[in-house]
Amino acid sequence: MGQFEGKVALVTGAARGIGQAAALKLAREGADLAVCDLDKDWLAETAGIISDSGRRVETYSVNVSDSKSVQEGIADIERDFARIDVLVNNAGITNDNLLVRMTEDEWDRVIDVNLKGTFLITKAVSRIMMKQRSGAIVNIASIIGLIGNAGQCNYSASKAGVIAFTKSCAKELAARNIRANAVAPGFIKTKMTDDLPEEVQKKMLDGIPLKRFGTPEDVAEVVAFLAGDAAGYVSGQVLTVCGGMVT
Ligand code: NAI
Repeated sequence: MGQFEGKVALVTGAARGIGQAAALKLAREGADLAVCDLDKDWLAETAGIISDSGRRVETYSVNVSDSKSVQEGIADIERDFARIDVLVNNAGITNDNLLVRMTEDEWDRVIDVNLKGTFLITKAVSRIMMKQRSGAIVNIASIIGLIGNAGQCNYSASKAGVIAFTKSCAKELAARNIRANAVAPGFIKTKMTDDLPEEVQKKMLDGIPLKRFGTPEDVAEVVAFLAGDAAGYVSGQVLTVCGGMVT
């Protein structure tokens, strides 16, 4: 029997990459899944794999940066599942540019999805978890939110914001038996990083002590740990999954 048997998990940005791997891992360990992404059609693959594994899965078209879309989506999930035990705030984007060239729109777009999206979803879900008096929240940050990166002042600020937000949530929600932690991945092979120029990828590989890029599954393992009872006394923490890059 899996550790999440009888539990309901919500994963945002679950159509591909780290979000998909996290949803599949939680399902393999027994959770029923509410998965959301911008477009329901994109989620079909994730949902297909989960339902093949025998778990219940429902898909929701939610734009995490839009409060109306979030309110409607979470209301639909509450109607369908009646509870949410695990929340994984994974939806995220990059829109890189050097500071002096960065437009206000590039700044706003990244902050809106990565930081405001995490706030909007967590606010709506925490109301449900507070009623239950239990829950585990795992926010996907990034090592860039810890160490910064040239060309990513918007992204690094959004992820540093996610880390600080996680710590405040952990303190505020602990009295209702809700834990909140963050995972800070390093360089993980997904569509987000495949889009980077080859020479940038090579340079990054040189800087990874374990000499390989991470996989979405490497991150999913840590998400499942933080979401599960094995981490029952862990809250407000940031766990890096970066092959030893940030120590
Ligand atoms: P990805 O681009 O492969 O997947 C992101 C998913 O989020 C996509 O399915 C996309 O449709 C969805 N999404 C984007 N905007 C959304 C919105 N407004 N509402 C709902 N869904 C939305 O990216 P990847 O690599 O899987 O990243 C997942 C998370 O991990 C992100 O938060 C990213 O910042 C973080 N991360 C990724 C790293 C990497 O090396 N790939 C490293 C560190 C952090």
